[in-house]
Amino acid sequence: MEIPVSRKITLCLLCLGILSLYLSYTFNTCLVSNISKSLPKHKTFCTTQYLNVTYFLQLQWRHHPLVPKDNTGLHYTTAVRVVPLLAVNETDASPKYRFLRQQGLQPARQLPSALIIGVKKGGTRALLEFIRIHPDVRAAGSEVHFFDKHYSKGFEWYRHHMPLTLEGQITIEKSPSYFITKEAPRRVQHMNPSTKLLVVVRDPVTRSISDYTQAISKKPEMKPFEELAFVNGTTGNSIDTSWGPIKLGVYARYLVRWLKCFPLSQFLFVSGERLIVDPAIELKRVQDFLGLKRVVTEKHFYFNSTKGFPCLFKSEGRSSPHCLGKTKGRNHPYINPLVLQKLRDFYRPFNSRFYQMTGINFGWS
Ligand code: A3P
Repeated sequence: MEIPVSRKITLCLLCLGILSLYLSYTFNTCLVSNISKSLPKHKTFCTTQYLNVTYFLQLQWRHHPLVPKDNTGLHYTTAVRVVPLLAVNETDASPKYRFLRQQGLQPARQLPSALIIGVKKGGTRALLEFIRIHPDVRAAGSEVHFFDKHYSKGFEWYRHHMPLTLEGQITIEKSPSYFITKEAPRRVQHMNPSTKLLVVVRDPVTRSISDYTQAISKKPEMKPFEELAFVNGTTGNSIDTSWGPIKLGVYARYLVRWLKCFPLSQFLFVSGERLIVDPAIELKRVQDFLGLKRVVTEKHFYFNSTKGFPCLFKSEGRSSPHCLGKTKGRNHPYINPLVLQKLRDFYRPFNSRFYQMTGINFGWS
């Protein structure tokens, strides 16, 4: 029996369809298996999740000598090293702890479970002094600089710089230079991938002036801010992005590196401005983030009109009212408003990117 031509065509098309379905299935299966083979086996690697942001920032910086060199590479470590958070048989002979030991409480030094990683001149000292009022928080007094300067000394060295804690207390350290240290995210992740990260941020224009004010207090012969902020001094028009006080304010650039190693949920961004205007509100956020009872409240603060900043009624070490030291809350020099406007214009796109990345609009103009 003769098959009509139209049927023959339909049959041919059907066969072709089945063949192409089979081929595409085989190809996709191979592709998926190859991709999964090339993926790292461990979950806790620094990833390239924020490459699109990196690309944006690279574009912004293309004409500056500051294009980050590390943004092209993947930061895979081989495995997460498990570091004991508690020393097993640490003892302290001081009589202060004898009573506690008699009660069966064993003080020990722990590696920090939370870090204030930055930013320099953001209000990091204020945050540390305020949160350490909490009875469940113990903090290293001075900046330890482990993840930037002393990493080669090892985790045991770091742990010995931590205060003694009792069960239930958490240890915090602050070194604002961590935020801008290229290797710090991977190193912190290596210590403990669950580390909570606090970043105090402040309008980058004010921050740059604060940074300069600190520098000139140590080196009075420094040139005026306006001269240092521009490539050709006051006659120039382009911002000198290689100058530390300016460079550090591009927060998004540094945050990209951290987000390759830690999820956003492990960060708390504290507003440096609000820490001055309403410290209790920021401290409430901080205590919630650290999983602490809300103990530090507005009752702990008073506004000192001479200093122009909030001060403490009492703290961990002192029972009388006191403010932060003379080096915190300095008077800033007068800066030409045109210079300020140029700086604001410069930071605007980077600030927007930072707002997008953090999901918070800090309201810097
Ligand atoms: P200025 O001295 O420029 O005003 P850091 O501790 O990170 O170095 O930040 C210093 C900044 O903290 C100070 O910068 C100040 O503005 C801010 N700050 C926030 N709360 C403060 C407080 N209660 N007392 C003094 N300074 C405070």
